[in-house]
Amino acid sequence: MKKNKLSDIKLEQLKEHETDNSDQALTTNQGLKISNNQDSLKSGERGPSLLEDFILREKITHFDHERIPERIVHARGSGAHGTFKINKSLAKYTKAKFLSEEGKETPVFVRFSTVAGSAGSTDLARDVRGFAIKFYTEEGNYDLVGNNIPVFFIQDAMKFPDLVHAVKPEPDNAIPQAASAHDTFWDFISLMPESMHMIMWAMSDRAIPRSYRMMEGFGVHTFKFINEEGKIHFVKFHFKPKLGVHSVAWDEATKISGKDSDFHRRDLWEAIENGAFPEWDFGVQIIPEEDEHKFNFDLLDPTKLIPEEEVPVELVGTLTLNRNPDNFFAETEQIAFHPGHLVPGIDFTNDPLLQGRLFSYTDTQLSRLGSSNFHEIPINRSINTVHNNQRDGHMRQQIVKGKVSYEPNSIGGGCPFQAMWKDGGFTSQEERVDGKKIRARSQSFVDHYSQAKLFYNSQSEPEKMHLQNALIFELSKVTIPAIREKVVGQLAFINKDLAALVAKKVGVDVTKLKQPNGSIPADADSK
Ligand code: HEM
Repeated sequence: MKKNKLSDIKLEQLKEHETDNSDQALTTNQGLKISNNQDSLKSGERGPSLLEDFILREKITHFDHERIPERIVHARGSGAHGTFKINKSLAKYTKAKFLSEEGKETPVFVRFSTVAGSAGSTDLARDVRGFAIKFYTEEGNYDLVGNNIPVFFIQDAMKFPDLVHAVKPEPDNAIPQAASAHDTFWDFISLMPESMHMIMWAMSDRAIPRSYRMMEGFGVHTFKFINEEGKIHFVKFHFKPKLGVHSVAWDEATKISGKDSDFHRRDLWEAIENGAFPEWDFGVQIIPEEDEHKFNFDLLDPTKLIPEEEVPVELVGTLTLNRNPDNFFAETEQIAFHPGHLVPGIDFTNDPLLQGRLFSYTDTQLSRLGSSNFHEIPINRSINTVHNNQRDGHMRQQIVKGKVSYEPNSIGGGCPFQAMWKDGGFTSQEERVDGKKIRARSQSFVDHYSQAKLFYNSQSEPEKMHLQNALIFELSKVTIPAIREKVVGQLAFINKDLAALVAKKVGVDVTKLKQPNGSIPADADSK
């Protein structure tokens, strides 16, 4: 593994916390050597255990608190360390150093995940896969918290808890545990036309990857690049696997799940152990600021992608995973991603789904990791040292010297100062925002079917058959006929033949469907 300085810094930082237990005497957490790890302290050989047995108490207490809450979504995941290399400078578009200095290598940690299942669920569920990357840059951590599908189910963060409550096991009986076929999910989908594009992807082979090494990664939302001159470009992020995109068939997925529910986890681990390092090309779609409104959809709408025929993906970097974690819990479980972890040169857009995400991640991590100091956990630490006036809180590690922890101050005493923009200080990109306060959605978000049609029509005949079979399988498990009817009604807006086929197989009588709730519209595109 070729290392550069930044990778060395991260490795050294992690090494400081490594412990090798081999050939060491067993100790308590206070460093006291333990002479008997087999028996508790008792009153007589057959007597009761004594409360004073502080060694037993410490051991059991720590065990009792081993579990932390699993992630509310994306609980099941696997991660690895690696390197990101920029092969072609993006300095024209962004001043982010890790993207603008050609040849620069940046250490990363990547976590792949399913969305709906619990931490012990199968890797092979039909589901979206998370593709989250933490770049340890010299300007601070940058997180790209993406998925393997380029669009999302909903347009506004307001709907996220509803979506997740619909897809997770039902509250009364906690069935089904895997993300497959149930009334609540399809009920929600049938009432949410904006989900139709994503449903096409989620019912396609994309939702059952052969391996984490063989799936694409997408930033999904449109982000902004800002260059040294302050000029803006919109950007979509892509990762394309060097091994190509491959999936398994549903029949294979169910068999694999039964035999080895760690299939993806094992595949990633073994590939890295064997030196077959997974690699992706990193690419960008760049849109000049002045072209924001030239598309027939809104760049802020996360249910839309930018067709590559309209804006080609320029490949400019390589992501390589080359080291397995030493400890799953310390690294893969405790890593905390957040779309709001930015570096100068990259900014958000007003995508209303992304805006809600900016609140959600730190909020959830406060309860998942249990302290406002989780940025001090080794895997979460920036390689750029942290200096600010935040202090105290549960489990604080940093020992900040000096009398003063406020700013401005005239005493000095080791207080950090604000960095100017020219010295790498982050400034939010200035944008004119005016309008009336309103709880609404833009009219530019209303076309829910054009890209769903494009996706369905882009599938080869075998892929179409898999997609049709997935819909038939899923809907055949829905127990409420009205839900099946509404979904068929939605499919009819995408492709009449698809809707008719699914209707026939799941017992929906299309002649009885009533407008507007799903009758097959005469103008549906059947191509
Ligand atoms: C994880 C919220 C949409 C990708 C999470 C977590 C929450 C969350 C609470 C758990 C984080 C943790 O415990 O550390 C939301 C909300 C969304 C949203 C509120 C919409 C409003 C999305 C979208 C994507 C995405 C659109 C993809 C672009 C991920 C990934 C993870 C994740 C990859 C797992 C990160 C990891 O591996 O630790 N999300 N999410 N989420 N989310 Fe989202």
